[in-house]
This record gives sequence, structure tokens and C-alpha cells, in this order.
Amino acid sequence: MSSNRYVAKVVDSTSVFKDDIFNGKVLFCTGGGSGICKSMTESVMRHGANAVIVGRNSDRLAKAAEDLSKATGRTCIAAKADVREPEQLREAVAKTISKFGRIDFVICGAAGNFLSTISGLSENGFKTVIQIDTIGTFNTIKATIPYLRETKGAYIHVSATLHYRATPYQAHVSAAKAAVDALSAVLAVEEGLYGIRSNVIAPGPIGGTEGFDRLSAKDTPKEADALQKVANSTMPLGRVGHVKDIANATVFLFSEAANFITGQVLPVDGGNEHLREPF
Ligand code: HXC
Repeated sequence: MSSNRYVAKVVDSTSVFKDDIFNGKVLFCTGGGSGICKSMTESVMRHGANAVIVGRNSDRLAKAAEDLSKATGRTCIAAKADVREPEQLREAVAKTISKFGRIDFVICGAAGNFLSTISGLSENGFKTVIQIDTIGTFNTIKATIPYLRETKGAYIHVSATLHYRATPYQAHVSAAKAAVDALSAVLAVEEGLYGIRSNVIAPGPIGGTEGFDRLSAKDTPKEADALQKVANSTMPLGRVGHVKDIANATVFLFSEAANFITGQVLPVDGGNEHLREPF
């Protein structure tokens, strides 16, 4: 591998899109307390929206809401809910409506993951990931659809590229995310009549996230660093993904520039999915 090969730069959406395109809009984001979904929330807020982030860990959520408000000058509030519990989600939605009066955008991002073979996975382990990723997405859609019909809003579901081919140790997540892709497509077709759009972002390997750490199964920061260097060298665009890459795709898909795009899956993976052999 040549040392002067191309490496894609990491871009801020604010350098490409106007900073007021989401003024007056409200985002409801599950899993927004950390990682990719926190970054997605930040980018939507940087373009003018207020936000509600939903998760199970109150302390982490409260801190993230404070960080996001400070970083963007917009208002972010925390709503504690487990996406597996429809009643808790309905309460989070009620809190959103009471605070902001509307919901324009929904990110279904709450997810669970760990490495396990099928033979090593308990029935409950499989069910838990399906419940968080797939049923949690369904519950979130159910709780928010009436409000998105009012605003002609849009959904983004955070999926994966794992299930395009067989990924060992990821049967549970692959099954869960394939179902999420299917749910989004049906949602797009059914709710298009009401002006709602629904799309999926499928992140490839995104460095510095809990998902990347869990899937790389490394134990120390040094090991993680070494692994990321190897991954960088094999990616078609010269590096693993950055959370901002997903955030930028989010801004585009929620923007009016994407108002004829629905029912689609957008892999944001630097070309990784097409790669058969490192070059
Ligand atoms: C095998 C495991 C396991 C492991 C849990 N289980 N971890 N089995 N290997 N490492 C089993 C448990 O033994 C139990 O089954 C069942 O799963 C439920 O476990 P709990 O710990 O009780 O569940 P819970 O507290 O609800 O936690 C959910 C979780 C956890 C998914 C297990 O990891 C979690 O909360 N994760 C959220 C954060 C996260 O994963 N973020 C990364 C998302 S990244 P038994 O039979 O013992 O009762 C992502 C990206 C995907 O999704 C795409 C990447 C490219």
C-alpha cells in the first residue's frame, strides 16, 4: 500500500449546507445519548432544530443533552425510555410534544450488539437484540407516526451493512437490521400518502464508536488503535468512517434536497461493502 494514497477528508455539514435549513424543526432520536446517534443529533441541531434524545441511562442522557445544547445553541432535552417498552416511548413522545409542540424528524437509532456465534447465543440473547433493534424501531414508529403526519416529516433508521453478506458472530444483529430495512421500506410506501419519508442509513465501520469497539473485540486502546490503522489501510477511501460522515448523510436525507428520496437504504461506508480484496 502506497503511503501517499488518497484519504477522504472529514467534512462538517455546516460547510456544505446552510445553517438555518432546520429552523423550527424538532428531532426525536432514540439512542441519541452517545456515538453515532449523538453526532447525528448534533448535526441536525447545528442546522437549527431542537431535539429530544431517548435512552436508558439517565445520567449519560442528561449529560449528552447538556453538551448538545451548549455546542449548538439550540435546545436538547433528555427523555428516559427503553425502546422495548411502548408505554415508555409514548411518554417520551408526550414529553416532546409538551416541550416543543411537534415532531418533524425521527432517528431510530437505539441498538444492541455483541459478538456471538449462533451456537453460543442463548435464545434470550437473540431475542434481546431483536427486541431492541427491530421491535424498538417498530415501537418508535408507532409512537410517532401521528405527529409526523401533521408535519409531513421524515424517518431515518440506523441499520448496518453486515447482513448484505454473511457476517460471522453477527447473526442476531444481521437478522435485526434486515428487518429494520424492510420496515422502513414498507413505512415509506404506506406513509408516502401522508407526506412522510422513510430512509435507512447503513453505516460501515465507524471509528471511535461503541459498536466499532464491540465488533473489533479488542481489550485495550492500544489494540483498538492498531486495529483502526489496519482498517484504514484497506478502506477504498483510505480511512474508516467518522461519526460526521453519518451526520452529513443525515442532514442531506432530512433536508428538502432529498424530498423525492424515500424507501431507500444509503450505505455510508467509504465503499467498504464493495471491496473483495484490499488493493
Ligand atoms: C453472548 C450475550 C452477551 C455476549 C449479553 N448476552 N451479552 N450473549 N455474548 N457478549 C445475552 C445475555 O447473556 C442475556 O441472555 C441476553 O443477552 C440479554 O442480556 P442483558 O445483559 O440482560 O440485556 P440488556 O441489559 O438489555 O443489554 C442489552 C445488550 C447490551 C444488547 C446485551 O449489550 C446493550 O445494552 N447494548 C447497548 C449498547 C450497544 O450494544 N451499543 C452498540 C450498538 S452498535 P441470557 O440467556 O443469559 O438471559 C451496533 C452496530 C451494529 O448495533 C453494526 C455495526 C457495524
